[in-house]
Amino acid sequence: MARTICVANQKGGVGKTTSSVNIGAALAARGRKVLILDMDPQGNASSGLGAKRQESQENNIYPALIGDRPLAAVIQPTEAPNLSIAPANSDLVGAEIELIDVPRREYRLKEAIQTVADQYHYIIIDCPPSLGLLTVNSLTAADTFLVPLQCEYYALEGLSQLLNTAGLIKKNLNPNLKIEGILLTMFDTRNNLSHQVVSEIQAHFSDKVFKAIIPRNVRLSEAPSHGKSILEYDPKSIGARKYHELAEELDERVYGTQSEAALRHQGPEIEQPALGRDREEMANV
Ligand SMILES: Nc1ncnc2c1ncn2[C@@H]1O[C@H](COP(=O)(O)OP(=O)(O)O)[C@@H](O)[C@H]1O
Ligand SMILES: [Mg+2]
Repeated sequence: MARTICVANQKGGVGKTTSSVNIGAALAARGRKVLILDMDPQGNASSGLGAKRQESQENNIYPALIGDRPLAAVIQPTEAPNLSIAPANSDLVGAEIELIDVPRREYRLKEAIQTVADQYHYIIIDCPPSLGLLTVNSLTAADTFLVPLQCEYYALEGLSQLLNTAGLIKKNLNPNLKIEGILLTMFDTRNNLSHQVVSEIQAHFSDKVFKAIIPRNVRLSEAPSHGKSILEYDPKSIGARKYHELAEELDERVYGTQSEAALRHQGPEIEQPALGRDREEMANV
């Protein structure tokens, strides 16, 4: 069974897609089998990984969500070994509305994922910048959620709302949902404010913050237009190095130092502090 991680933050432009793609690529480079699931109608993760536009017209996450096609049928390989993508396109906008009248509408993605979960070590869901039904489906389907935060003054704005939504989903739809961690992105070493934001977030969330911090790196923003992850586009860049570090940290947390063979027989459940504690901490933010 795969570990399903939802990359969520209702703010746009905080690094959800960049992180989904490059964490996925870095885990795949470590030999893990990884599926990236694009749940954003903008389809940035799909184009960023070079998903074939023509093929994605018919085979994308939308028919898999509404039950017209099995998820396995819409998955495409990428240039990178071990890394696949279930692409999205603008059809997905319709799903928010069409799913409203469908029974068990919050569980559509979870049910689709269950049909392929035994084929991957990780399924990474790139969420849209909203807390609508697509994000609710993603959080309901996930074991954990990972929150990218931009190292800027308003970083924490909206975080309590996200944690609150996750808390409601845990209570009503997905009792096992846990927080995977907070990822600091777009860190600017020359900017004092960036340093302040980092210390503040580390003080509040302590061990929930990933040690690896992703710096602002222009190579990370160039890679998607070449349809490549940073590991393929510029493996020596600081961005690539940091996503490697992050993947190592995450992978060791999730699977420890277990062998490949042992991994295949293991469920995703591991001990993590409960979400409730983070919500209590949020009250002090
Ligand atoms: N660490 C980074 N350094 C430089 N640019 C980045 C970095 N992370 C993301 N970007 C750029 O910032 C923009 C927003 O990032 P993106 O990952 O698309 O955010 P989201 O998915 O949360 O909307 C994109 O143009 C992306 O290329
Ligand atoms: Mg995005």
